[in-house]
Amino acid sequence: MKKKILVTGGAGYIGSHTVVELFKSGYLPIIVDNMCNTSERNLSGINKILNTELPFHNVDCTDLKQMERIYALYEDIHACIHFAAYKSVEDSVKYPEKYYKNNIGSLETLLKCFEQAKFKNLIFSSSCTVYGMPDKLPVDERAPFKKAESPYGETKQKCELLIQNNNCNSVSLRYFNPIGSHESGLIGDCSSDNASNLVPIVAEVAAGLRAKLTVNGNDYDTHDGTCVRDYIHVQDLAIAHVKALDYLLEHEVKEVFNVGTGHGLSVLDIVTAFEASNNLKLKYAIGDRRAGDVEKIYADGAKIKKVLGWKAVRTTEEALIAAWNWQKSTQDA
Ligand code: NAD
Ligand code: WQD
Repeated sequence: MKKKILVTGGAGYIGSHTVVELFKSGYLPIIVDNMCNTSERNLSGINKILNTELPFHNVDCTDLKQMERIYALYEDIHACIHFAAYKSVEDSVKYPEKYYKNNIGSLETLLKCFEQAKFKNLIFSSSCTVYGMPDKLPVDERAPFKKAESPYGETKQKCELLIQNNNCNSVSLRYFNPIGSHESGLIGDCSSDNASNLVPIVAEVAAGLRAKLTVNGNDYDTHDGTCVRDYIHVQDLAIAHVKALDYLLEHEVKEVFNVGTGHGLSVLDIVTAFEASNNLKLKYAIGDRRAGDVEKIYADGAKIKKVLGWKAVRTTEEALIAAWNWQKSTQDA
C-alpha cells in the first residue's frame, strides 16, 4: 500500500512538481488546493505526466471542518506537506491581514487536525526570507531570524515558531529562489504572484511582453554591483521534499534545512545565462534599488547534504531553458 501524503497547495508551482516526484517515489499524494492562485492546467499536467488521476479536493485549508473531513475520509494520512500560502511580498505589504489569515491560519488549522490524526508528520514550506540580510555567507540554518522585511516574511517566521512549539514531527525547508519548471512543459508557475520575480520577468521580456528588464540597482557590494541570490531548479527542490519525507517518516525530529544550490548569482549573471542558454538577446536597463532588497544571500547546503543526502544537481542553464519553454507554452495555451 502506498503511503498517503496530504499536499496542501499541491496544484501550485512548487507543490505540483513535488506531487509528481512523490508519486514517482511510491507515495500517494492527496492534493488539497482551493485554486486561489493557480490553474487547472497544473492539475491536468500532473495527471498527464503520471498517467493517472490523483485524488484532489478543492478545499480552503483554513476551513477546519473541511480539513477534518478529509482527514476522516482517508484515516491514515502519513504526513502533510504544507505549501498552501500566499507568496507575494509586495501584496503582503498592502494587505498584511490577508497574509496573516491565510498563511498562519492554514497552518493552525492543520495543527488542529493533527490533534486527532494518527500521524503528526509535517513538512513546511519556509523561505530564506527568514534570514533577512545574514551577517555571514553562505548562510547556515543556525543564523538568527532578522526583523522581517514584509508581512509575508513575518508569516514564515511565525509559522516556523508555531511548529517549533507544537508536538508534531516536522521538517521546515527554507527555500532559496526556485526557478524553471518541469522538463515536460506540462506544469509550472500559474500564479499571478510572480510578477515581480526576476526569472518570470526575464522570460516575459524575451517573449516581447515587456519592453525591457529593469535591473534593480547596480551599486551593491557584489561582483558586478547587482544583487546576488541562490537560484534553484524547482525539480531539484521537489526532490528535496521527497528526501525530507523519507527521513521524517523514519525519525522523530524537529528539523530545519536550507534548500539551495550554494552558489550566488547576480541579476546580470542571470541575464547573461538566460541569453546564452536560450540563444537570444534581452533588453535591459539599470534602474533604482528596490526597497527592502537583500544585497546578497546564498545557502550553506552542508546540513541537508549530510542528513538527507540531497544536493542540487540541475544546472542554471537547464532551469533557464525550462523557464523559457514554460513562457512560450503559456502563450500557446
Ligand atoms: P503557489 O502560489 O504557486 O502555490 C500555492 C498554492 O496554494 C496555490 O495553488 C494556491 O491556490 C494554494 N492555496 C493558497 N492558499 C490556500 C488555501 N487557504 N487553501 C487551499 N489552497 C491554497 O506558490 P509556490 O511558489 O508554489 O509556493 C509554495 C509555498 O512555498 C508557499 O508557502 C510559499 O510561501 C513558499 N515559498 C515559495 C517561494 C517561491 O519563490 N516560489 C520561495 C520560498 C517559499
Ligand atoms: C531577485 C533579484 C531583484 C525583478 C522573493 C521573495 C522571497 C522568496 C523568493 C518566497 C532581486 C532583482 C527582480 C526585476 C530585478 N519568495 N530583480 N528586476 O526578492 O530574492 O525573493 O522571491 O518566499 O521571499 O522576497 O526574488 O526574483 O523578486 O528578485 O533586478 O524586474 O532580481 O531586485 O535582486 P527575491 P526576486
